[in-house]
Amino acid sequence: MKIKNICCIGAGYVGGPTMAVIAQKCPHINVTVVDINEDRIAAWNDENLDNLPVFEPGLDSIVKEARGRNLFFSTEVDKAIDNSEIIFISVNTPTKTYGKGKGMAADLKYIELCARQIARVSKQDKIVVEKSTLPVRTAAAIKSILNNTGHHVHFEILSNPEFLAEGTAVNDLLMPDRVLIGGESTPKGKEALKALTDIYANWVPREKILTTNVWSSELSKLTANAFLAQRVSSINAMSEICEKTGADINEVAKAIGMDSRIGPKFLKASVGFGGSCFQKDILNLVYIAKSYGLDEVADYWEQVILINEHQKQRFSDLIVSTLYNTVSGKKITFLGWAFKKDTNDTRESAAIKVADSLLSEQAKISVYDPKVVAKQIYSDLDYLKTRSSEENRNLLQVHKDPYEACNQSHSVAILTEWDEFVSYDWQRIYDNMQKPAFVFDGRGILNKTELERIGFVYYKIGSGA
Ligand code: NAD
Ligand code: UDX
Repeated sequence: MKIKNICCIGAGYVGGPTMAVIAQKCPHINVTVVDINEDRIAAWNDENLDNLPVFEPGLDSIVKEARGRNLFFSTEVDKAIDNSEIIFISVNTPTKTYGKGKGMAADLKYIELCARQIARVSKQDKIVVEKSTLPVRTAAAIKSILNNTGHHVHFEILSNPEFLAEGTAVNDLLMPDRVLIGGESTPKGKEALKALTDIYANWVPREKILTTNVWSSELSKLTANAFLAQRVSSINAMSEICEKTGADINEVAKAIGMDSRIGPKFLKASVGFGGSCFQKDILNLVYIAKSYGLDEVADYWEQVILINEHQKQRFSDLIVSTLYNTVSGKKITFLGWAFKKDTNDTRESAAIKVADSLLSEQAKISVYDPKVVAKQIYSDLDYLKTRSSEENRNLLQVHKDPYEACNQSHSVAILTEWDEFVSYDWQRIYDNMQKPAFVFDGRGILNKTELERIGFVYYKIGSGA
């Protein structure tokens, strides 16, 4: 099967970068990324590459190379579906906020809308690729919709979950550990698997392209995220024991990470994991387990979330108790708001919950983040509905300069591990703060000896020394 045109529904953190890389590596294929969000599409088409809606190191130069050549961003969803032999679905699959499964199950309404639209528009056979993260067996629902509505053309459904991490998306896409494609073992299923495999094989070694059945592929994505998040919760649980016992979590992580069975990656203690995926996908897994009556399995995975909530809460509790049990009217500076460095994404960022707790204690918070804009920070807080948006604006200020954010502060809290925080002039920050000047390093990135020499009272997550 010769593929000339593909499209992707959903121009978000996954759809945008993934399709940009496919377009760069496959100049012989036209790639159209469509979205109903007009502002987002306009931003993808912005002449000024600083205005792309997703910040990812290296993404701007790829978009510059391919956009207008064989990479297009558009709001004309029907046209793109009609023109394409392969359609990726990369829309959001958030946790349900209503009805059965509220707060746990994945909300599949956007997926179903896409499936109905594809069925309505398609007049020729199509390959439909699940790129979004989905509950296991979603392909059966998509298939049923596609086969029972529309023009009765043939649809082949593949599962091709995305494993990129934000902040390193471009590298992850260019050099993936593996590409996973699930499909049926019928002749048409094999043909579809080959068509998608051939696209990736333009730059990914074939031995790294793994093909499985559809259900294994869907479940592998949830499993990978559950294992990764479980590692963070495990190291964070140990960080609390370290603080009580005089051990140091970085030393413990190094010691266990040298065991080749454990490995050194993903063992960095933190103020808690964030991001749009871990919590949502584990909750989804817990819901699936419960729906099959597997309560022990559900409880096991739910604990990963509970430890994460605890880690965020204990960080804000520590700030309050260290600042003499009251932060009312005190200025606390947050360095970082994004859920990790090198991204402008704030979804489920630990900073949001920590800020919300401290604001409830009437603290005054100043925030500096190199990539997150004030509008996003206020919208994250307003979404919680803990207090009015006017109160949020009165209590929390967003600064464009880190030194200004720290001026006259009682304490600085590191919420994101941005590299630039390490090289700040900490003497200058100290000189302009209230004394005693406290630093709460929720990412363990600063140099304790250096900060204590300057005069800071320094707390590092996971360090009891
Ligand atoms: P996102 O919210 O950034 O983007 C989704 C886009 O889909 C939005 O722009 C939205 O307007 C658009 N959309 C929704 N319904 C639509 C419709 N009917 N027609 C056209 N456009 C529509 O989400 P994301 O972070 O890119 O995640 C997408 C999927 O990929 C999710 O299932 C997520 O779990 C998964 N995923 C995300 C990451 C990540 O790091 N963000 C990594 C791997 C997998
Ligand atoms: C994650 C998965 O890594 C990726 O494969 C999947 O496709 C999407 O979900 P992402 O959420 O973008 O990616 O970033 P990730 O690097 O996994 O970090 C998630 C959170 O865990 C961040 O808040 C990060 O700061 C935190 N984390 C990660 C730690 O606290 N310690 C670590 O050692 C690693």
